[in-house]
Amino acid sequence: MQVYMDNNATTMVDPQVVEAMLPYFSEKYGNPNSIHKFGTGSHPAIAKAIDQMYAGINAADNDDIIFTSCATESNNWVLQSTWVDQILNGDKNHIVTTEVEHPSVLSTCKFLEDQGVKVTYLPVNDQGIVEAHTVKSFITDKTALVSVMWASNETGMIFPIKEIGEICKEKGVLFHSDAVQAVGKIPVDVQDVHIDFISMSAHKFHGPKGVGALYIKDSQKLSPLMHGGEQMNGRRSGTLNVPFIVGMGEAMELATKNIESKMASMRAKRDRLEDALLELSDTFTIGERDNRTPNTLLISIRGVEGEGMLWDLNNGLIGASTGSACASEDLEANSVMLAIGADHELAHTGIRLSLSRFTTDEEVGYVIDHFKAAVLRLRGISSSYAKVQPTPGGEATECAI
Ligand SMILES: Cc1ncc(COP(=O)(O)O)c(C=O)c1O
Repeated sequence: MQVYMDNNATTMVDPQVVEAMLPYFSEKYGNPNSIHKFGTGSHPAIAKAIDQMYAGINAADNDDIIFTSCATESNNWVLQSTWVDQILNGDKNHIVTTEVEHPSVLSTCKFLEDQGVKVTYLPVNDQGIVEAHTVKSFITDKTALVSVMWASNETGMIFPIKEIGEICKEKGVLFHSDAVQAVGKIPVDVQDVHIDFISMSAHKFHGPKGVGALYIKDSQKLSPLMHGGEQMNGRRSGTLNVPFIVGMGEAMELATKNIESKMASMRAKRDRLEDALLELSDTFTIGERDNRTPNTLLISIRGVEGEGMLWDLNNGLIGASTGSACASEDLEANSVMLAIGADHELAHTGIRLSLSRFTTDEEVGYVIDHFKAAVLRLRGISSSYAKVQPTPGGEATECAI
């Protein structure tokens, strides 16, 4: 058996999504900008995908949803164009974000700092999230944009987006959220929160890699990042990637349809896994699980180095992660655990397991058995030591560091 438990890095494309995409590679392959029927033949499919996207996040008719190549592009677009519109060509000079954003936000902010923009990186609390009052206390009359992720890729913790949105509205500041780990996993309703931009990525909810989107409230001004052929009403140039757009729309519909029951099913499996792993001594998970996306758990096993654990899991054909997929090859400590206040040694022990709606009970059982045996092996305890016992003083807990 092999088990994929790294769904926050990417997901399998749903077979129904593949089926919807296929005709747009080899039969209906025209350029949608062409006026002949090969080009216009794909217009209904593009319109359907746009409708599926609007329905998935409950966007209003006067909002825009623009397809991009990935969420990295969407995040870059918001940050770089806010700089151009509000700072270079306006009277603002400040962006507020958090210490635990994805590198596509953090690196862009570093780039903007090099251009002279003031950036505040907000600290997180012991749950790994930023609190709304913290955001409020750092907004000044020079703040152009607040950018706070909707849910953490590393811990699954859900940020107080509604409260932060209210603060941004009150202060008259643009509000962006990297919603990559929220869309398709938990309900995201852009009419229920005050938000100007959200970034999305299809491959995180069983769509193809290489297609993302940016939601723009009230179709408001945001200078284009990509200049060229004026596609998407001039907002994002480049020949439309029809099969991938169709795939993203289909994936959005499949992920958000009956989302509550999908969440309940994922949560039950995640909780079973988490409860079983917490029976091991000296283990804890990061963040209260009721406030996490239902598929994610980041567990720390004292004394067991994360990379060694990953190798052991990999030998058992289990795909997991020590944190952000982008950082997992460079043996760095888990950045969110460091931000929460863990020391370096502890921050090297984090293992992220992320399930999907396709994860089965059998797979969860396999991972529990293999994981427990691996911990015993790596702690140097004979694997014939059948029963896992808490060591004296070693509490199995679900808490912050
Ligand atoms: C929170 C978050 N933001 C942005 C991204 C980047 O998404 P993409 O791969 O579509 O560029 C990821 C992917 O790991 C992510 O987890």
